[in-house]
Amino acid sequence: MTTSTATRPAHLVAHEGEEASNQFRHDLTGAEPSCLRTRTPSMAVLHRSAGSYHYTPEGRKLADFTSGVLVANLGHNPKRWWKRVIEYMALEDAAGESGYHEGVTLTSYNAVTEVELEASRRLLANLQAAPGGKRLEQILWAASGSEAVQKGLWAGLAKRPQGDGIILATRHGFHGKKGLSGAVTGSETDKERDPRVRFISFPKEECKTLQRRREPIDLAPYRAELEALKAEFGDRLSVLITEPYLGGGGSYHPQKEYMQMLAQFCQENDILFFLDEVQANFGRTGSMYAYSEYGVEPDLVSLGKGLGNGMPVDAVVGRADVFARLSFGEGSDTWSGHPLGCAAVLATLDEFEQTDVLEQGRRLSVAIEENLVKLNELPAIHAVRGEGTVWGIECEAVGQLSADEVAAEIVRLCYLGDEEGRGVHLLGPLAGKVIRVAPPLTMPVAELQEYFDVVHRLVANLGR
Ligand SMILES: Cc1ncc(COP(=O)(O)O)c(C=O)c1O
Repeated sequence: MTTSTATRPAHLVAHEGEEASNQFRHDLTGAEPSCLRTRTPSMAVLHRSAGSYHYTPEGRKLADFTSGVLVANLGHNPKRWWKRVIEYMALEDAAGESGYHEGVTLTSYNAVTEVELEASRRLLANLQAAPGGKRLEQILWAASGSEAVQKGLWAGLAKRPQGDGIILATRHGFHGKKGLSGAVTGSETDKERDPRVRFISFPKEECKTLQRRREPIDLAPYRAELEALKAEFGDRLSVLITEPYLGGGGSYHPQKEYMQMLAQFCQENDILFFLDEVQANFGRTGSMYAYSEYGVEPDLVSLGKGLGNGMPVDAVVGRADVFARLSFGEGSDTWSGHPLGCAAVLATLDEFEQTDVLEQGRRLSVAIEENLVKLNELPAIHAVRGEGTVWGIECEAVGQLSADEVAAEIVRLCYLGDEEGRGVHLLGPLAGKVIRVAPPLTMPVAELQEYFDVVHRLVANLGR
């Protein structure tokens, strides 16, 4: 079947000269509903991936400025990492059973494997060794970031057996789409809200640009808002959830003092401070965990994405007395604590503990900032902001194009690349007009530079 314009669904992305990819995209619209993906102007078909690069079915090379979706912090398919994952699964030929390996099972339900306990212990030791991690005493594994958030919030609400607990959440955050994770995402105005959730202000204006973030922040209005909620709800306030920085909300990285003020308010009022690090963990902000970077001591932390370097494994970690509020089975499901995920966590910890990957990330951070500051001089770019290896580019309207259209066009142009075929893989814009830059921490600085030059030239031509 070929993809003619007449038969192509209106939402189907297609690019000139990409016969194989276009066919694939077309066939996919028959096999899967479009709701499975967020629409992006590129809709890259990823044939193979290695290190900081993806390759399309046409053989085009794309520098990955997204690390998947901030999952492949060590790059895609690192050899030593894969070798270790397989070693942790301990596969050997089973005596007398020629059709099978003997090794770690692929289930953790109603049973437990040694690799799970090893991963729990190693991860806890790593979390506790990081400044601010001393309350992180136990691990409740989960099968997605949303689920980790959901489980943590369940434990938080269980403080009030009468069921009248209140969750505070920072406005415009992203914590997932399902259940309670969806309930604490966004703000009170964008959908029917869960009555257990109250939103508090996040200082977006104060950290809109790199310069603004360096200026002192007036915390008084934020503190007053919290005090008013305390006066209204008293002991019903059970848990406050926030992200170290607004990721999905458009890359807003607050002043550290704001985060510290939230943590302090929670501590003074016996409210759990829950930091959602699904996106920030494992080196993204420059430290292993963002709680160290921001100088706070959370009671609960959700982990995901980079935790397994691409293997689907997530967790909420925190105080043992908080988790003890949930009884047998309340945090269980088929995949949580899955041995393969645990093997991936161990292999990822090995890399972070035994190599200078964090240092590499910090070097890369300097190069990203320099390039973005330069990019910010172009008319299509309104502001740049970020930290570590997670940055956002807020676009500006040019000519006939709105800021949202500029962002979408940059994603498309970067995907298509320059005359030498050098493309850059970007995610669809965040909050309409913000482009995320978050390459693997291991991307060599010279390669980042080469591809940033491509981006710069493409963006400079926009609107001309
Ligand atoms: C901070 C944060 N929390 C939670 C989630 C939800 O994770 P998942 O998509 O694995 O459910 C995300 C996903 O992007 C996230 O960025």
